[in-house]
Amino acid sequence: MKEDLQVYDNVLQLIGNTPLIKLNKITQEFKGEFFAKVEAFNPGHSAKDRIALYIIEEAERKGILKPGNTIIETTSGNTGFSIAMVSVIKGYECILAVSSKASNDKIDMLRTMGAKVYVCPAHVSADDPRSYYQVAKRLHSETKGSVYINQYFNDLNIDAHFNSTGPEIWNQTEGKITHLIACSGTGGTISGTARYLKQQNPDMKVIGIDAYGSVLKKYHETKEFDASEIYPYRIEGLGKNLIPSATDFEIIDRFVKVSDEDSAHTARELAKTEGLFVGYTSGAATQGLKQLAEEGEFDENSNVVVIFPDHGSRYMGKVFSDDWMEEQGFFDTKNEIEAQPIEFIK
Ligand SMILES: Cc1ncc(COP(=O)(O)O)c(C=O)c1O
Repeated sequence: MKEDLQVYDNVLQLIGNTPLIKLNKITQEFKGEFFAKVEAFNPGHSAKDRIALYIIEEAERKGILKPGNTIIETTSGNTGFSIAMVSVIKGYECILAVSSKASNDKIDMLRTMGAKVYVCPAHVSADDPRSYYQVAKRLHSETKGSVYINQYFNDLNIDAHFNSTGPEIWNQTEGKITHLIACSGTGGTISGTARYLKQQNPDMKVIGIDAYGSVLKKYHETKEFDASEIYPYRIEGLGKNLIPSATDFEIIDRFVKVSDEDSAHTARELAKTEGLFVGYTSGAATQGLKQLAEEGEFDENSNVVVIFPDHGSRYMGKVFSDDWMEEQGFFDTKNEIEAQPIEFIK
């Protein structure tokens, strides 16, 4: 191969260094400048590529993971896809315990990447033997030579973002970032990114986005786990029914809750206003941004970075389907079908 051609040895070399893209129309009424860190530009189309590669390479470095071993994880989809992708390149078996909330498309994607998938009921408590946490633990104990990534309770999840997402945002904003807005699921993205950024500038603000039906916001405010906060919701990957140790609650200044319905409409709005076809939690993060702007969180000097975790193609049967939106009753209150009508030529 000629030296001047830019060629990658494999797909893993494309992980990270995602672009920061200015938001224009959707934020035009707000004071400040707004930028999206678009993680869909990773080869696995989500921020989870970063943690999959980092954690697997740390395990290799420590000699825990050897050729032919099995990697096991609980995942609502994205982490599983990234682990499966890394496993294909590096030659590992991949077993995934997935929540039944994950779309069929996501499950088929994992299977296409060679993973063995177990679908577990979403609305059972974390200590129920059917929950995806318990199923993964059981499979780990039953599978010889297996490694359990355990993203909710693995500090390396935080370190992956501390070493990549944080420095990238600091450099891309030339240190001018004033606010970081990020969804919190495992908490790895927000905690690692914020830990790096606050080391550079302790005055910057870090805001986590949580779902109604999740315990994170209340835990942050009271340090108490309140099970009465838990009820089913639709957004995948955001909020939690347990307290993940991969979340550094001290580094987060505050949490904002967003609804399933507002987040879905905002995800569709991002496509129509910014040309950014991104996932449901990107809509949730932008919905949180809107709520913060409306309550006066930002001023003319604010440089706000919001992390968009994944790509819109993963939600074709959900937020980008008019039928799904209608079934959820999401068009009732806004009273509009936002996608263009289809014209059939006979
Ligand atoms: C689509 C999506 N958005 C946001 C998140 C939250 O990221 P983190 O787990 O790093 O808090 C996840 C994590 O599972 C996700 O899959």
